[in-house]
Amino acid sequence: MKRKLALFLLIAQWSMFNSQCSIASAQTPVYLDTTKDIEARVEDALARMTLAEKIDVIHAQSKFSSAGVKRLGMPDFWTDDGPHGVRPDVLWDEWEQAGQTNDSCVAFPALTCLAATWHPSLSILYGAALGEEALYRGKSMILGPGINIYRTPLGGRNFEYMGEDPYLTSRMVVPYVQGLQSVGVASCVKHYCLNNDEEYRHQVNVIVSDRALREIYLPGFEAAVKEGKAWGVMGAYNLYKDEHNCHNQYTLNKILKGEWGFDGVVVSDWGGAHDLDQAVKNGLDMEFGTWTNGLSEGASNAYDMYYLSKQYQKAIVEGKYTTKELDEKVRRVLRTFFRTTMNKQKPYGFLCSEEHYLTARLVAQQGIVLLQNEGNVLPIDPAGKKILVVGENAIKMMTVGGGSSSLKVQHEISPLQGLQERLKDSNCQIEFARGYVGDVSGSYNGVTTGQNLKDDRSSEALIAEAVEKAKTADYVIIFGGLNKSDYQDSEGHDRKTMDLPYGQDNLIKVLAAVNKNTIYVNISGNAVSMPWKKQLPAIVQGWFLGSEAGTALAAVLLGDVSPSGKLPFTWYESLEQCGAHSFGEAAFPGIWRNGEKKIIDEEYKEGIYVGYRWTDKQKLKPTFAFGHGLSYTTFKVSNLRCAFNETTDGNMTFKVDVTNTGNRTGCDVVQLYITDVKCSVDRPVKELKAFQKVTLKPGETQTVTLTTDKRALSFWDETADDWKAEPGEFIAQAGDASDRLTCKVKFTLK
Ligand code: BGC
Repeated sequence: MKRKLALFLLIAQWSMFNSQCSIASAQTPVYLDTTKDIEARVEDALARMTLAEKIDVIHAQSKFSSAGVKRLGMPDFWTDDGPHGVRPDVLWDEWEQAGQTNDSCVAFPALTCLAATWHPSLSILYGAALGEEALYRGKSMILGPGINIYRTPLGGRNFEYMGEDPYLTSRMVVPYVQGLQSVGVASCVKHYCLNNDEEYRHQVNVIVSDRALREIYLPGFEAAVKEGKAWGVMGAYNLYKDEHNCHNQYTLNKILKGEWGFDGVVVSDWGGAHDLDQAVKNGLDMEFGTWTNGLSEGASNAYDMYYLSKQYQKAIVEGKYTTKELDEKVRRVLRTFFRTTMNKQKPYGFLCSEEHYLTARLVAQQGIVLLQNEGNVLPIDPAGKKILVVGENAIKMMTVGGGSSSLKVQHEISPLQGLQERLKDSNCQIEFARGYVGDVSGSYNGVTTGQNLKDDRSSEALIAEAVEKAKTADYVIIFGGLNKSDYQDSEGHDRKTMDLPYGQDNLIKVLAAVNKNTIYVNISGNAVSMPWKKQLPAIVQGWFLGSEAGTALAAVLLGDVSPSGKLPFTWYESLEQCGAHSFGEAAFPGIWRNGEKKIIDEEYKEGIYVGYRWTDKQKLKPTFAFGHGLSYTTFKVSNLRCAFNETTDGNMTFKVDVTNTGNRTGCDVVQLYITDVKCSVDRPVKELKAFQKVTLKPGETQTVTLTTDKRALSFWDETADDWKAEPGEFIAQAGDASDRLTCKVKFTLK
């Protein structure tokens, strides 16, 4: 009860701050005091455990659980995906559904949408709400958040991650972890590291400069560990320096546990462990999902065959290893138990509570991005109008599919339903035309949507119907984009092209030609090419919004909420604008080593120039820039100034004014980018180093304070193996998109 109240208060506080135009100062919840005595309890328990008990707690005993220590009263440990809802239960030993009737959850918006809110205090709500759902379901660890950097728009799992920028990712992941863990559920931040695309994910060996590793690919994980105090980290499938990331000396022992002082558990991705000696020595603590010579197909002793199971126990008994590494793993597991399953202050969980739906809705509303709005065709004025809704994505359930993040939901409101519900008492008429047929299958891993999307008409007939209806409509809203099918926004493979599938380009062009008020809403976690961009007035990025998708989209399209999401990645015009695709196959998807299909080397040749860092350097104009997103009102960001004379330690405070110059209340995200004027190494044209979302009434001006520290001025010095800020001149620029920086100031680091 205590926690339910806490989440409720947190939401109330959030809304209150929001209406008072100072949302960024919403406070974090009071975290459970789980650290008290934990170390003493860990040592005490460790001393009482037998070798067999120790071995039992470091590997799986079912698809998603590992053993507790029954003799000592420690319950089993249950994990579950992640990252945007709690996955339905599968059978103990198989991937088939367990058929529970209490595992229909709330689907929160996928993490690209959360990142697009640029709103850290919403991320806390998100984590806490997800944690309550996990608690109800008896899960002590959520396999998320996923924070791999968006390196290419083809990345199959980009929708599960937080975009291309290490700073934005860091600011959004920390509160997610804190919110989740505030209810005693461990986060398992994934996939550490360099798992930036899906194709050949078990075989890819990433080659990347130390600078890019430290400046681009690791900061999110570093923040999650050092600031968020994450209790779990998942090793990625791929290799780095020729070692799998689930047992990697360099990334796990040296960086994660050594430099960052991570004291939680390293969990293998499912089937990511490959070698006993490395599993023992290279930082892995808990082994899950190993495919043991086909034994995972049902043999009753499959879990005994894991690397960190009987063979490890035998090797210890035979003296091949001492218990030094084992005890270290067990300590971490016990620490996790005391933080979660054995946490005396752990509250009760709730499934599908009103607060959870409200959280999902708030995140969705704040994350939807208005990409284009010529002639202010949006928001829609529905009075007495006819709206034609077109497209499979207007009706398709998107919470099922996409891989391990697939969910079974209590309800999901489709875009069409959302509009119908919102306009049910109005004199506005809504019609629907299918427009195209994509993937009608609607089932994943035994969960079926129950929708029958079958439509055998030819594409000509579907388009003809839409065109006919569009001619007499006041507005046409096309809901298209990708879906969660293989080779789209889905785990295991990457997309093959940036183009929209199922002939949608043609449909959009044709409809835009017959109706000047054609609005395109793109449902995806990735950028898609938009050859018809100039032919229609309005484009909205609608993400995968989860249970409340339709409600949130209707609220934004009809203007109940002014859009305020900002892109967490650069929306390239084509793959040619993306750094990862500028160096041939060696840089993506890689080249098979020695011509054998065993290891594929993928060299991140673009180095630190990912996303806008690349388009800036090459002076390219993407379709939509990183940080871009319009509103139904307008803003002016001006008068950036330093609240310091000069800095010696890099701790800096900037002030900047933001004014609502339009005629309705809205939110804007003030973004601060820093440029190093002269440096001994090549540096990006600019980098995001601070931001804040504010709500302003018409005519209102607010002075926003943005603070940064020395890291904001630093680069990774490969010779010293450390961060370095070189004294000299810097420029800070502020605005509300990376291509709309309207004021700047120079300052000096002494
Ligand atoms: C995915 C992980 C997921 C795990 C368990 C793996 O295939 O890469 O993200 O948590 O399966 O479902």
